[in-house]
Amino acid sequence: MCGIVGYIGNQDSKEILLKGLEKLEYRGYDSAGIATMNQDGVHIFKEKGRIAELREIVDGNVEATTGIGHTRWATHGEPSQLNAHPHQSVSTRFTIVHNGVIENYVQLKREFLQDVELKSDTDTEVVVQVIEKFIAKGLEVEEAFRQTLSILKGSYAIGLLDEQNPDVIYVAKNKSPLLIGLGDGSFNVIASDAMAMLQVTDQYVEIMDKEMVFVERETVIIKDLQGNVIERAPYKAELDASDIEKGTYPHYMLKEIDEQPLVTRRIIEKYRNENGEITVDHEIIDAVNASDRIYIIAAGTSYHAGLIGKQFIESWAKIPVEVHIASEFSYNMPLLSANPLFVFISQSGETADSRAVLVQIKELGHKSLTVTNVQGSTLSREADYTLLLHAGPEIAVASTKAYTAQLAVLSILAAVAAQGKGRTLEFDLTKELGIVANAMEVLCDQKEEMEAIAKEYFPTTRNAFFIGRSVDYYVGLEGALKLKEISYIQAEGFAGGELKHGTIALIEQGTPVIALATQEHVNLSIRGNVKEVVARGANPCIISMKGLEEEDDRFVLPTVHEQLSPLAAVIPLQLISYYAALHRDCDVDKPRNLAKSVTVE
Ligand code: M6R
Repeated sequence: MCGIVGYIGNQDSKEILLKGLEKLEYRGYDSAGIATMNQDGVHIFKEKGRIAELREIVDGNVEATTGIGHTRWATHGEPSQLNAHPHQSVSTRFTIVHNGVIENYVQLKREFLQDVELKSDTDTEVVVQVIEKFIAKGLEVEEAFRQTLSILKGSYAIGLLDEQNPDVIYVAKNKSPLLIGLGDGSFNVIASDAMAMLQVTDQYVEIMDKEMVFVERETVIIKDLQGNVIERAPYKAELDASDIEKGTYPHYMLKEIDEQPLVTRRIIEKYRNENGEITVDHEIIDAVNASDRIYIIAAGTSYHAGLIGKQFIESWAKIPVEVHIASEFSYNMPLLSANPLFVFISQSGETADSRAVLVQIKELGHKSLTVTNVQGSTLSREADYTLLLHAGPEIAVASTKAYTAQLAVLSILAAVAAQGKGRTLEFDLTKELGIVANAMEVLCDQKEEMEAIAKEYFPTTRNAFFIGRSVDYYVGLEGALKLKEISYIQAEGFAGGELKHGTIALIEQGTPVIALATQEHVNLSIRGNVKEVVARGANPCIISMKGLEEEDDRFVLPTVHEQLSPLAAVIPLQLISYYAALHRDCDVDKPRNLAKSVTVE
């Protein structure tokens, strides 16, 4: 949430910052701003709304070779021009951009800023004002910065400019992501995500929590809060520029839906050894097999993937699994087993709720595995082991290809764990995943049909229900989340058998009910549930799997292995949501109130 960029070099920084912010817009898009610095001082441009709106107010005549920028997802203070970053100290000497939440900002205000009239409602402004207070006490900038950082509680990624020193950007992070990008010797950059600055470099250096970095044109100096200099080697960001462009697609979401067959095939390849057998690192197999219970921790779509992952692991490897919503885990921590393994599922690897659990269980001395799309992300770095999704950057706020990648990787983990326990699967997982990839391709080619369903069922409706039994219920939860987050139709997923315990009261004439019927053992029961809602006026849309279909089914999926059906069944739901949102003129890739990477608890 919130994205930060910075540039210090010999070129004018405006366009580099704006292009960088455009790439980070998925992190928050309710307001944005840049500050550039030249011999005349610091120039701030900020605006409520998208980067496109910011572009319109940036003065093209102001040239400056140092600058910082920010795109915001509001936490403290409404989205407005006033609350947009950058923020400045009273004297305007210091200018800051910040991602994260300063939890003790009220105390800091009380302790240091009684006499300061703050201009915004943000926690961020407090930081820059406190720095100036320390300067007023006679501290040098580095020391003022260090002392301020050491009293901050919460999460931050910070870029700071000092008007009196145009040759450095002061940088720091704690819990929120931030990278340093290395230039060709004449410039350096900072970014919340490497993709923002891929335009100028693919060489990056990680910053660890509670480090300060002094980014100059030709050098980068990393120090810990005690002032010790830290050496760290750069790495090459394995991102292809085409991965982060829409190409000919109107929206990232549609592009990412279409990438699912390719991602599934890539996962099969990545997790195959030289003999063609699926495998994961031995350390991970050992950790899974040493555990007596697996605790999956995740949020949103990743949580939905976890529910299906539980089915894979329990039915194939026979290891008990619990799936927990990350934000609830701390309050409702279950009694843990003797040898638990915690599995964090997170596309971004940055979700603050999941990270809070990771910190907690590490303190208890438990082992952890992160299943993520982003190598080097916080959850990946801090867990004992990582399994990568290899899905390529997912930019649309609504998660699609990461979800099916999570399912594919979890199926591999489950199969490998089963093998480790001496159990043989009754089918060849690699082959079945290949069949799934083919089915995904067929489904992605049926966009017209999906658009027709979206138009028929969701032209003006305010609510919708998704029902299913067994794994279809979990896919329904994901279908409902997709629909609501991008089309703003109130959509809920329910277990077919649970409807008549209350929810059926909401069924009215014409209420759309999407029913999934991909599981033979519950096929008759889910169809019974459809009859119950139809008798009360619902407009049913049955999506079944070939072999189980009946005459009135609205859409029939190609046959895939029944246990892997969620990987295929979700695709029509993603596409229907996409077209429903499109026809309602919603911003598909950047739905209101949301951000891609939820880095606040
Ligand atoms: O990056 P993560 O997988 O940890 O994100 C978790 C959720 O915020 C995310 O899945 C969210 O629910 C998606 N926007 C849903 O499409």
